[in-house]
Amino acid sequence: MPLMFSRLSQSISQSEIRNMSIECDRIGGINMSQGVCDLEIPLPVKQGAIEAIEQGENHYTRYDGIESLRKAIEHKMLSYNNVKTDPEKNIIVSSGATGAFYSACLALLNPGDEVIFFEPYYGYHISTLLAVGAVPIYVTLSPPDWTFDMDELKQVVTSKTKGIMICTPANPSGKVFTKDELEKIADLAIKHDLFVFTDEIYEYFLYDGRKHISPASLDSIAERTITISGYSKTFSITGWRVGYAVCHEKWAQMIGYVSDLIYVCSPAPLQKGVAEGINQLLPDYYQWLSHEYQIKRDQLCGTLLKIGITPYIPHGAYYILADVSSLPGKTSKEKAMFILKKVGVATVPGEAFYASNKGENLVRFCFAKSNAILEQACEQLLKL
Ligand SMILES: Cc1ncc(COP(=O)(O)O)c(C=O)c1O
Repeated sequence: MPLMFSRLSQSISQSEIRNMSIECDRIGGINMSQGVCDLEIPLPVKQGAIEAIEQGENHYTRYDGIESLRKAIEHKMLSYNNVKTDPEKNIIVSSGATGAFYSACLALLNPGDEVIFFEPYYGYHISTLLAVGAVPIYVTLSPPDWTFDMDELKQVVTSKTKGIMICTPANPSGKVFTKDELEKIADLAIKHDLFVFTDEIYEYFLYDGRKHISPASLDSIAERTITISGYSKTFSITGWRVGYAVCHEKWAQMIGYVSDLIYVCSPAPLQKGVAEGINQLLPDYYQWLSHEYQIKRDQLCGTLLKIGITPYIPHGAYYILADVSSLPGKTSKEKAMFILKKVGVATVPGEAFYASNKGENLVRFCFAKSNAILEQACEQLLKL
């Protein structure tokens, strides 16, 4: 038998987002494909980390994170998410939301277990699930409001279904799940005894007065809900790797042990920086964030409309899915490459967000860019 890769690794491939970033670098274009924020880090976050390094907080932390960060998250979960937690029992700080989700999947799912996803989906969710041998099942959201059909959702449940994944606000659609939708999902989860996984990394990126509702704030499913979030986006620190899982203590400890096994801990001084940010930044920081991003959203949507690419206006997160059926190319990849080659702006082909072929006429733009870069991108797009 020749030396080979493992069976599980065969489900892992270079994400389309990275591929487009590489293509973009090759021609020196503007990268609107990757969800990397170009914005400034809030001062208390930066200073908190610098001080922690200088004061010698450079060692392994407790497996579930430093006390000051768990307490800060406890406070934020109560005041913002309406979810009561005990920082000794329910909060696991991990290596980003990505690390928290992978740890949760390893702790809670067996190979062959099915988990329901809404498409368009965030590709890492699917890859993470596949990496533990579980099976994604899809329910398609319908634009422009990205609604779903409850009957379709009921029909995909089988005896192997173990969970349902929500991403709110969602990448890439910007959908913000309503209370009514969450209640319907909750009923289904209770009826079939499912975990509810919820990724809320964009919880502070909300437009047009939309409100964020955490599924864990619904009492009926609090115990079965695994809330995943973090500060990569909110504090523009995607490279710091500070995120968390919040859940009932009966799940939390094992998720923490798995996170410890894979990552040992999130970087100690950076945990401190995030704790300082949560403790010191006032509600107006988060309001300012939404306001700033809404301006960016509107600027890019306005430009897209001018060039005949219809944007599906997002209610949250910082991506725009746009209809590129008017552009040349048979696939969304060809259309995205057309945009990149013609005007030097990289996007993500819609096919990256769908298991079906429903993404072929879509591309995704990320608008988490500095004003100067966004301005430049809009100027270039106008030449399409
Ligand atoms: C929905 C979603 N979850 C998680 C992440 C990554 O979060 P983290 O940097 O905390 O791992 C991203 C990044 O694009 C995302 O879009």
